[in-house]
Amino acid sequence: MQLDELTNDRFLRQLEDGSLRVASPDDQGNWHVHQDVKQRILTVFKTSGLTSFANGSVDKAALAPRHFNTADGVRLIPGGSAIRAGACVQTGVVVCPPAWINTGAYVDVDTMIDSHALVGSCAQVGKRVHLSAGAQLGGVLEPIGNRPVIIEDDVFIGTQAAVVEGVIIRRNAVIAPGVLLSASVTIYDTVNHTTHTGEVPQNAVVVPGSRPARGEYAQQNNLQLNCPVIVKYRDHNTDAATQLEQALR
Ligand SMILES: CC(C)(COP(=O)(O)OP(=O)(O)OC[C@H]1O[C@@H](n2cnc3c(N)ncnc32)[C@H](O)[C@@H]1OP(=O)(O)O)[C@@H](O)C(=O)NCCC(=O)NCCS
Repeated sequence: MQLDELTNDRFLRQLEDGSLRVASPDDQGNWHVHQDVKQRILTVFKTSGLTSFANGSVDKAALAPRHFNTADGVRLIPGGSAIRAGACVQTGVVVCPPAWINTGAYVDVDTMIDSHALVGSCAQVGKRVHLSAGAQLGGVLEPIGNRPVIIEDDVFIGTQAAVVEGVIIRRNAVIAPGVLLSASVTIYDTVNHTTHTGEVPQNAVVVPGSRPARGEYAQQNNLQLNCPVIVKYRDHNTDAATQLEQALR
């Protein structure tokens, strides 16, 4: 069935069950953005009027917060989280309060979304990811051609880290607490003596750093800029440092 033949309701349910996605990987691990799906999400926003919900909140009528039951296999811990209509949350996911998962987001199996974490609209989060307390994944709904934030399988995002503007974090990478990754930030790789922009390679361990700002004025004033640094590639120590507390799951 064509997207425009689906009612808003049917479209949102298909986003929620994962049969429609804003972006998906091919067999080679290349991600493809489905602009028609993003466009349709925008149409839902534009065509849906406001309504008030039983708990006193007001939002687009089509985008009522999702409800779960034990058969879904999702643990939505009570205490103020919201998962908006049109967000896919797969089985085994744990959501600690308060957290916000917006429309078009996709959260794959066994991922942990810790307290105060944000999964912005259309962000794609892989399997067994750990999104630590206060971690922020930006949303990218417009322009529709732009890639959303993508976090691949088994990635660890440390507390208070932020990934925005369509940055992609490849499998098994580790983002240390407080790292800020946006599209124009240069990531320095001290292992391979190279730089990356918009993408963190597989298994990379990225920590926050700073570098001297360019230009005479910046040098005179000793200014530094945010500079994520790859200090190593994942090893046994990293696995130990990022292990999930099984008791919490
Ligand atoms: C990033 C991390 C996984 C690295 O662990 P590791 O692989 O054992 O690596 P190490 O601790 O040996 O650190 C490697 C290097 O990075 C540096 N480094 C590690 N974390 C850093 C940080 N947050 N900021 C700056 N530098 C950091 C270390 O000082 C070390 O540098 P050196 O080799 O010059 O001494 C770990 O430091 C970490 O942040 N764990 C997650 C904590 C967290 O977010 N918990 C939240 C749970 S809710």
